[in-house]
Amino acid sequence: MGSGLLSIKTSSDFAKMTVAGRVVAELHTEVRAAAHPGVSLKSLDVIAEKVVRSNDCRPSFLGYQGTYPATICTSVNSMIVHGIPTEYELREGDILSIDAGAIYEGWHGDAAFTMGIGEISQKAQQLIDVTERALWNGLAEVKPGNRIGDIGAAVEATAKPYGYGVVQGYTGHGIGQAMHEAPSVPNYGRARRGFKLREGMALAIEPMFNLGTPDTAVLDDDWTVVTADGAWSAHWEHTVGLTPDGSFVFTLPEPKQVA
Ligand code: MF3
Ligand code: CO
Repeated sequence: MGSGLLSIKTSSDFAKMTVAGRVVAELHTEVRAAAHPGVSLKSLDVIAEKVVRSNDCRPSFLGYQGTYPATICTSVNSMIVHGIPTEYELREGDILSIDAGAIYEGWHGDAAFTMGIGEISQKAQQLIDVTERALWNGLAEVKPGNRIGDIGAAVEATAKPYGYGVVQGYTGHGIGQAMHEAPSVPNYGRARRGFKLREGMALAIEPMFNLGTPDTAVLDDDWTVVTADGAWSAHWEHTVGLTPDGSFVFTLPEPKQVA
């Protein structure tokens, strides 16, 4: 079993992660285009699974831990992550997080975004935009010699001026031949502390910011993570690899160099 810490990835491994990442990006594009008022979360999951399977990939979430029932997570409003696609129909003003993972020839891509449905409040749009910016600030720290704490510190610092609750109970992670590998990648931390990054590693960085407190709860479905205070939450995620040519985000239509 590979580990985000220990397995040196060859260029062909990175090439496979590039394919997995591109398929996750295509899934994001298709689901984003379909997400309108009146559309059910389940119907978005159907679209997502088609994109994965038509690209010679498998959905990594489906059957995860023996029970996850879908290709994507659909987390609406006060849901932070791991929302199960239900018959719920999207409404104007909602915010929706889509999280998806694909496996190509054994290698994983994992990414998430949050979007508004129709017109949304300025407060909600700002939450979405700042959480995305935190992701990119974290990604910019992914280079050999930097440490896990550099990523967390950059993410946390992005939330600070806005007073957002930075979720601590769920984190990013190493990724490669499994969706979740060591090390875990918290969205808080101290610069120059923690595990040292090096070439050959791949990470999923995934800030989760709340309009209220950082506290979380899990619904009776045993999956859906919500804010304890009911305030709305946003989530963004990309998969990034430290290749011999630099650090590249894989979960985009084309790999993008970030460091
Ligand atoms: N993208 C999520 C993560 O990084 C995984 C979703 S959990 C699952 O942890 F059950 F849906 F697979
Ligand atoms: Co992830």
